[in-house]
Amino acid sequence: MLCNYGEICSGCSSINEDYEKNYLNKKETILASLPNGLTTRTQFTDITFKNPKIRNRMDLTFIREGNQLNLGLYAKDHGGLVDIESCEALTPELNLFLRDLRKFLPPIKKGSLRIRIGPKNNRGLWLDFSNKDIQYLFEEKSWLNHISQIAKIEVGQRRKALDKIGDEFKLKKESLDYWFSSFTHEKEVPILSQIASFTQPSIEANKKMISYIETCLMSWPREGAIIEVGSGIGNFSIPLSSFTDSLSCLENDKWALKSLEKNLSAQNSNAKVINFDFNRLNDFQSPAKEWLLFLDPPRSGIREIGQLIASPRPPDRVIYVSCFPESFARDATVLMSQNYEIDNMAFVDQFPYTNHLELVAQFIKKDG
Ligand SMILES: C[S@@+](CC[C@H](N)C(=O)[O-])C[C@H]1O[C@@H](n2cnc3c(N)ncnc32)[C@H](O)[C@@H]1O
Repeated sequence: MLCNYGEICSGCSSINEDYEKNYLNKKETILASLPNGLTTRTQFTDITFKNPKIRNRMDLTFIREGNQLNLGLYAKDHGGLVDIESCEALTPELNLFLRDLRKFLPPIKKGSLRIRIGPKNNRGLWLDFSNKDIQYLFEEKSWLNHISQIAKIEVGQRRKALDKIGDEFKLKKESLDYWFSSFTHEKEVPILSQIASFTQPSIEANKKMISYIETCLMSWPREGAIIEVGSGIGNFSIPLSSFTDSLSCLENDKWALKSLEKNLSAQNSNAKVINFDFNRLNDFQSPAKEWLLFLDPPRSGIREIGQLIASPRPPDRVIYVSCFPESFARDATVLMSQNYEIDNMAFVDQFPYTNHLELVAQFIKKDG
């Protein structure tokens, strides 16, 4: 048995089961859900993590009922919260942070929080509490005094940074710090973001995923363009920019765009950052030369994929990173109907002992 909470916690549904069996089951389930013919000539790669201690961030809920304090994840049966002292899915450093946080929890009734460990072992805490509770904590002061000494704090949906002037706490404009790492040719590149920004869950898994993507790009000609959709803070943009002289990074999140700009310029990349919403494709311009479309959409996938590739010069290749096989299967069907064939695909088990798997698939246009 790996985890004491395995039977009740909804976090890792199969943490106390055999790793290989669980992994193969979910892989088979995904393969069976993919459109017929998709996988006929595909080369598969498995990127697995039998040791689950890989997460660098975790979202937790906090509830205080009388003398009982719970900080953890919801129970499998949805019958309340499982109080978690230490979690098998976290890196040792993040577990230490969790332990320190638990010593002195906020004097409010409930809230959500995110804990993060950055590449320099820096600690980040995002407090997604109600405005009323935040106001109370500002007046109460002792908890904020304590917690701001052990972590950098970000507050609320507007992601303001906590600041202290004299004896008073204040909220200031969002602030960026190194909370995650990208990689380029195995070299670690710490990247800026907010604590609340989207990042992949694990730096270790991210490194392997990027390494796989780089293998896909080995034969890509430098003069060919790459258009990346869903660039976020630039996690894949950084490795992509070393494979082309013409990279365009498309993203519509205003916070992500700021980090993306900074992360690319820190690498002296000449990539273009474009504020672009893929739900509104009117102003989408595809290159007139050889190009590759790199997609990393949210769970809902990219329904507009048909329009993205419908140009006088369709992309020669599509690399699709997906955290949600259902939307991937739908979008892959569109690609196949337009003469794309899947060439190679990786299953990245960045959520070990759960039902989730990340996919990276490379499609090549058959007559392109
Ligand atoms: C799964 S995240 C990937 C982020 C990044 N590639 C990474 O590895 O960290 C999906 C990204 O798609 C962006 N996104 C969501 N909807 C979008 C839209 N309609 N147009 C453009 N980007 C969108 C999100 O803001 C987010 O950054």
